[in-house]
Amino acid sequence: MAALKRVVAIIGSGGVGIASARRLAGGRTLLLADASNERLQSALSTLRKEGYEPSGHILDVTNSSAVEQFAKQAAEEGPLDVVVHTAGVNPVSFSAKQIYDINLVGTANVIDAFQPHVGVGTSMICVASMAGHLAMGSISAALQKHFALSPISSLLTHQELSNNVEPGMAYTIAKAANILRVQAAAKAYGDQGARINSVSPGIIYTVMGKDELEGPTGHMIKAMVDASAMKRVGTGDDVSKVVAFLAGPESAYVTGSDILVDGLLSFETRTSALLTLFQVDKRLRRNGFSLSFYLRLRSNVYVEGVDDGLIRM
Ligand SMILES: NC(=O)c1ccc[n+]([C@@H]2O[C@H](COP(=O)([O-])OP(=O)(O)OC[C@H]3O[C@@H](n4cnc5c(N)ncnc54)[C@H](O)[C@@H]3O)[C@@H](O)[C@H]2O)c1
Repeated sequence: MAALKRVVAIIGSGGVGIASARRLAGGRTLLLADASNERLQSALSTLRKEGYEPSGHILDVTNSSAVEQFAKQAAEEGPLDVVVHTAGVNPVSFSAKQIYDINLVGTANVIDAFQPHVGVGTSMICVASMAGHLAMGSISAALQKHFALSPISSLLTHQELSNNVEPGMAYTIAKAANILRVQAAAKAYGDQGARINSVSPGIIYTVMGKDELEGPTGHMIKAMVDASAMKRVGTGDDVSKVVAFLAGPESAYVTGSDILVDGLLSFETRTSALLTLFQVDKRLRRNGFSLSFYLRLRSNVYVEGVDDGLIRM
């Protein structure tokens, strides 16, 4: 009897999911899952035209028993090699509650559901975001511990956590929670010979990234991208290369880690521009000025409370 092929399961069939499939699926059994049938069918068709043979699975990551069922099914296909969790939603089109449910709880569901099925050599990679790095310093130690260790049933129950925040803020908090949850899971995964890590992209030119670039704060994001070290947005392929590194033997001693894939955008954001610019933009607009006016003056003018290079969230 022929040996079973090793398995790669990819959750989220958007830009990063497809790019990860291209990099990882050769010679492996590929399962591709998404909540949206339209997105899933489009990804399946793209990959099949390129010679891959993925099976498609409708899966909403907020449904823990469905995620458990999917994890079981993936493990039954053969030895589980790689799990890439890319499903998520952005703050342009979704509410804070949806972001907490999908990005925060959904990721915890995936981590917990696959844990019983991982074994020696399995590598899970969860896609977080540079936004998580921006939020981390503003989250109390108590809330960080809660995100890392709380059972999923009480994950959204914490006195410092409210749905009554801007979706953008919920997104940064959820992504910080992802990074913490991955770190905390690494011990249990390690006990089974498996590894788990996250990657934190900057702005990536996928459906989600395009939404943000075309959204109400797109002009601010573009200004930040121009000011960053690489002066460009990332591609799904940029992210998938790091996913592949974390999936493979070159990263055998890396677990519980997060790798930024952002062309230094988060550093630029933290030290000088985005949040400062958001604040300046808001303040200037209130006073009838534009951001470009501020930028022309920036080298000469000190704007009290926002020009000190600190983020306030
Ligand atoms: N694109 C960016 O600029 C960017 C930046 C930082 C982080 N990220 C993160 O990268 C990951 C991948 O994003 P992408 O750029 O590929 O976006 P994308 O929009 O192309 O793909 C995301 C996919 O997740 C699916 N999805 C949404 N809710 C789901 C649910 N409840 N269950 C299952 N699937 C669901 C969507 O249908 C979509 O196909 C996300 O977690 C995102 O937050 C993206």
